Amino acid sequence: MKHTDIKPITDPSRPQVYIETYGCQMNVNDSEVVLSILQDAGYALTENIEEATLILANTCSIRDNAEQRIWGRIDQFRLQKKTRPEVIIGILGCMAERLKEKLLEKVDLVAGPDSYRDLPQMLQAIRPDRPQINVLLSHEETYADISPVRLDKNGVSAFISIMRGCNNVCSYCVVPYTRGAERSRDPHTIVNEAKTLWKNGYKEVTLLGQNVDSYFWKDEHNSSNNTNFAQLLEMVAKIDPALRVRFSTSHPKDISDEVIYTMAMYDNICKHIHLPVQSGSSTMLEKMRRKYNREWYLERVRKIRSVIPDCGITTDVIAGFSGETEQDHQDTLSLMEQVVFDSAFMFAYSERPGTLASKRYPDDIPYELKTQRLNEIIELQGKMSFKSNFNEIGKQLTVLVEGPSKKNPDELCGRASNNKMCVFPSMGEKAGDYCTVEVVSVTSATLICKRVEEQL
Ligand code: SAH
Ligand code: SF4
Ligand code: F3S
Repeated sequence: MKHTDIKPITDPSRPQVYIETYGCQMNVNDSEVVLSILQDAGYALTENIEEATLILANTCSIRDNAEQRIWGRIDQFRLQKKTRPEVIIGILGCMAERLKEKLLEKVDLVAGPDSYRDLPQMLQAIRPDRPQINVLLSHEETYADISPVRLDKNGVSAFISIMRGCNNVCSYCVVPYTRGAERSRDPHTIVNEAKTLWKNGYKEVTLLGQNVDSYFWKDEHNSSNNTNFAQLLEMVAKIDPALRVRFSTSHPKDISDEVIYTMAMYDNICKHIHLPVQSGSSTMLEKMRRKYNREWYLERVRKIRSVIPDCGITTDVIAGFSGETEQDHQDTLSLMEQVVFDSAFMFAYSERPGTLASKRYPDDIPYELKTQRLNEIIELQGKMSFKSNFNEIGKQLTVLVEGPSKKNPDELCGRASNNKMCVFPSMGEKAGDYCTVEVVSVTSATLICKRVEEQL
């Protein structure tokens, strides 16, 4: 690893970089990699845009509204140039990759997700009439040797990207085009990164990939060292029983029994699976090219619950994909009622240029109908979240403290193993401590808990 600073350098004598991050957790981790590269090139982080000589946005293209937001931000960034013409504005991430030269009219630097090592050289080459762009995608880049500079605020929980890209071709999704082909990272570099975090006081790591179940490391010299995702999970879980391990995202077509049994074997592998279903209709799933159907999804949920009865299961749902009938929509609602997800991210379908769906399937569900269906989905999920939380009443849970609760500074908040947010009275613990609590009442978002005196 190039350097050992785990927290950002704040040094006013260095040139200052300001970074905004949009999109998924992988983008958050990428910003941490970018900061590491820029610190090595002499920059220091600022949270004040007015001090920054380099303004970066690490962007997301997943839905049109994500991109619209960035265009608005770019206009804001450009205001800084009015008084300080030397300011450099750069767009990183998925939108850089998708729009390429189109962004150069407005910014000085466009860098796709696999080009971050090139940033120092690009920054040096920028002149007022010479913006820089690198949007090459790679089959090898995993930034495995770069030690990310942690941008989280409380030093408890950190992300580790275990792979990049995606080899699936879900017909609605832009990610394979913005992130390129799937590649897995050497497991030893992952374990070393988790160990460094543990030594620096972190208590939780989240292993990230678009489809973690297809993680696979092939050892060129010795095939007995080949590593699949279940084996990687075990390697990280063995670092220390008090280090919590989470992961995201699981793909319903790929989540294996081996992963489920590995989770069950280790207390410190958190009992939560984010398993995006997208739709409850097998017709829609086929058109989405998810490569599973409703029955397959429900079977995976049954398997998870038979092995890990208390496992939290969360999901993503898309409303109003091409050709979605009222019956397809009802199938989504009935699946949600059947599964009772703990929580869900819910979206209206947004056609993305270049995807298979944009070429083959018209975006033919009117805006009002999409919104109405989305609202029905959101309303039902509210009830399901409450129902699933209500089932927790009376249970004892171990919570990793994140800090004071936002509403009441005399209370703490933190997550249980199943990823549910808990609030409870403080007894002076700090972020990173474990507490045992008992659930006394709930809302659809939070478990309200009392303290349980630990038996010594
Ligand atoms: N790799 C993950 C998802 C990554 S994108 C997986 O396969 O599940 C996160 C979520 O955004 C997706 O699960 C999907 O629900 C949503 N999404 C992706 N493309 C979308 C689109 N074109 N319109 C609306 N939502 C979309
Ligand atoms: Fe997109 Fe599908 Fe890959 Fe997820 S698995 S990132 S939805 S293509
Ligand atoms: Fe967005 Fe790219 Fe992540 S499109 S969701 S930032 S992989």
